[in-house]
Amino acid sequence: MNPPLQINITQVQQEIDALALISENPPPVVTRVLFSAADLKARAQVKSLFRQAGLTVRDDGAGNIFARWPGKNGALPPVATGSHIDAIPNAGRYDGVVGVLGALEAIRALQRAGFEPARALELIVFAAEEPTRFGIGCLGSRLLAGALSLEQAAALRDGEGKSLNELRGAAGLGGHDLHQVRLAPQCYSAFVELHIEQGPLLERENLPIGIVESIAAPSTLRLQLTGVGGHAGGMLMPDRHDALLAGAEIALAVEQATLTSGSPDTVGTTGVFRIEPGAVNSVPCRAWLETDLRDTCLETRDAALKRIESSVAETCRRRGVEFKLERLNADPPAICDPRLVETIAGVCGELGLPFKRMVSRAYHDTLFMAQVCPATMIFIPCRGGFSHRPDVYSSPDQIQRGVEVLALALARLAANPQGKSFMRSDAAASGGSPFSGQSMCQ
Ligand code: GLV
Ligand code: MN
Ligand code: MN
Repeated sequence: MNPPLQINITQVQQEIDALALISENPPPVVTRVLFSAADLKARAQVKSLFRQAGLTVRDDGAGNIFARWPGKNGALPPVATGSHIDAIPNAGRYDGVVGVLGALEAIRALQRAGFEPARALELIVFAAEEPTRFGIGCLGSRLLAGALSLEQAAALRDGEGKSLNELRGAAGLGGHDLHQVRLAPQCYSAFVELHIEQGPLLERENLPIGIVESIAAPSTLRLQLTGVGGHAGGMLMPDRHDALLAGAEIALAVEQATLTSGSPDTVGTTGVFRIEPGAVNSVPCRAWLETDLRDTCLETRDAALKRIESSVAETCRRRGVEFKLERLNADPPAICDPRLVETIAGVCGELGLPFKRMVSRAYHDTLFMAQVCPATMIFIPCRGGFSHRPDVYSSPDQIQRGVEVLALALARLAANPQGKSFMRSDAAASGGSPFSGQSMCQ
């Protein structure tokens, strides 16, 4: 008989809720910006949980955390899983955290079931998946994959002009060499990230699991506009070079470039727009904008980027406003490993869980892990598809199914071929899945 795999979802939920209290803003808001006091406290909290599970914990110089369950054969490349615990301003408790604390529970469930991995299992907490501090997302996984050079990393500055080196030093990581962060190719045999969908499809189609086949290509533009300030009463309209109005036109040009790209998958957002001096009776003399532009198709994304860049130049010339435009990143999409996708599809079959093969429109650390090893993601539904807001929600049941699929996938990927197989003990094992009767692949 197969040993049962029991997920302690009550404990996972308690751990998620406790982590949510470590925030720069009061509940239900979760804000944890890289290396803020909240981020440092949250890191300490998850490391303590990892140690309680008997995992060996280490940091790298970029602030990535690695927690290892050794395998019987130290010569085999480990299987990796994980996600992030940083959170954008005004976020909720599930983004990234489900993939960290869910992975921890997957490991604990395998330990309780007596599973002995042939390959080590490594749980990674990636530093700064969110772009809040330095303007680019996936800082930790970018550095792991070598997709950001050390020179580029050294040039990064946050909104207060602080460098990565300064901040990681203050976070106690100064003794860890940034040169050693980059992973060797194929250093992991596989990487699987569990995450909330951050879109509405699984909920709409009443599906418990998504398996990610590709991740859309993200890019970010940062724009600084310098116009001419002056008195809101005294400065005549023909004499104006208003930085805000130039920025407003550019934000609309971003919308136009996405709407006319020819692809329904092009999405553009100007999520940062600050002005100076910010007084009602003063013409704005400076503006800062940050624009996020993505597409599943690289060519369409790049064509839209070029159109936006031309609009910036044209608008600023016409309005007599100076500009400095930077492409902070323009990454290719990721194609997930088809064999890993099939492995997870097989696990869903074993559990009687219908699933959907999907594109991830949000980016994730898997975007960069896919550059170093076979990688994919497991999605679970979230209410209304909402994310990046405090009311994001996935139910304990939804999380439990994701953790179960992850645990069994990790067991298959890390197994000794002669080892025992693992099944959960309840509904699926007895053929009573609440989803039985639905097609296995939508
Ligand atoms: C990740 O948080 C993203 O913005 O896709
Ligand atoms: Mn996010
Ligand atoms: Mn995330």
